[in-house]
Amino acid sequence: MVVNKLKEALIFLCKGQFWRMAVMWTISLILSYLQVFAQRHYLRKSKFYERSSPFLSTASSNPAIASIKKPICIITGASSGLGAAVSYALAKEAGRSLHSLSKIVSEIQEHIDDASVKAFQVDLSSYKSILSFKHALQQWLLDSDLHCSVQLLINNAGILATSYRITAEQCDQMMSTNYIGPFCLTKLLLPLLEQSPGPSRVVNVTSFTHRNVSSMEVAGETISGQYFSKLSLYPFAQVYEYSKLCVLLFTYELHRQVCLVEKSHSISVIAADPGAVKTNIMREIPSCLSWFAFYILKLLGLLQSPEVGIDSVLDAVHAPPETSGVYFFGGNGRTLRSSRLSYNSKLAKDLWDDSSQIFLERQLVYQDTT
Ligand SMILES: NC(=O)c1ccc[n+]([C@@H]2O[C@H](COP(=O)([O-])OP(=O)(O)OC[C@H]3O[C@@H](n4cnc5c(N)ncnc54)[C@H](OP(=O)(O)O)[C@@H]3O)[C@@H](O)[C@H]2O)c1
Repeated sequence: MVVNKLKEALIFLCKGQFWRMAVMWTISLILSYLQVFAQRHYLRKSKFYERSSPFLSTASSNPAIASIKKPICIITGASSGLGAAVSYALAKEAGRSLHSLSKIVSEIQEHIDDASVKAFQVDLSSYKSILSFKHALQQWLLDSDLHCSVQLLINNAGILATSYRITAEQCDQMMSTNYIGPFCLTKLLLPLLEQSPGPSRVVNVTSFTHRNVSSMEVAGETISGQYFSKLSLYPFAQVYEYSKLCVLLFTYELHRQVCLVEKSHSISVIAADPGAVKTNIMREIPSCLSWFAFYILKLLGLLQSPEVGIDSVLDAVHAPPETSGVYFFGGNGRTLRSSRLSYNSKLAKDLWDDSSQIFLERQLVYQDTT
């Protein structure tokens, strides 16, 4: 058993993708913190946002918000890590494994007396499951006599898959879970976000690792991840970085479309990057290597607990309603500039168009045009 684990770790150590993670990701994390430091001490360009609770409080002076009995916040991937910690903080949720979710729900209800939490099961790598979730959510809102709208959607669920796995819809599982799923979920929930009597918000959880993508071509085969099946070795670290860059491009494009083009000030779209957090994200990496990676990050002072790591997500949730199209990193209400590539609006539009095409094809397959 131990020999097998050591053998597995040794094989993993020989992979270029492992070293890319170990070296490049640490460098991009350090560079992000250096940028925070430089902004704070020298450039004075840093933009801070005070926290308020426009999306979560019904005790608002805004009569539209006060008319909602309970603001609805959906958080994906709430069964572990950051999602579970954010759920504790916000006490509302959605996720995949019903068993883990039920456990988190019971724990929240045990610790927070007036917590109103509902667990939904959804597999983000499956459009069919996302669609069922949307229908279940609408039914639940109806049955609970709640306003048929959503105030906050936090696209948090994500994976670091070390092997190529194909979903029932013929996509790479990591691209589906980290990017296509959140894209489709957001598109499907947009009408509910738009129906909110008060402001509503989408928060997309991304990662500093996106900085390692230096060039990008948008094509259906890359977004769906089918392209990676043609490679002899699955470039898992690169696919993860790529999926997180897609999340950022999508965030900024959605912001441009809803806030700038439609001039709607009711929906805001924000990206949040937690930094390095000790969660189950490395579950597919041999345990001795993930333990060692966390140990080194801790020695460097770069590793956070989920309770601290959620700071940037909570900053994004609580930023004033007019805040949109920004990237929170480092806690304390701080925003940073993400990579140069992430601001390429032509790339973002191409990605949007290709992703919308995938979305449309799936809608046609499952016959949902609502
Ligand atoms: N940890 C870090 O250092 C770090 C750094 C930057 C960004 N992030 C991002 O933070 C987010 C949360 O990750 P984490 O660190 O908290 O990892 P985690 O502990 O592994 O949690 C991931 C969550 O996503 C859910 N999930 C995975 N696949 C799913 C699917 N197909 N459908 C629905 N839910 C699914 C998991 O549910 P199950 O338990 O059912 O699998 C779990 O609840 C991810 O987007 C990650 O990329 C993490």
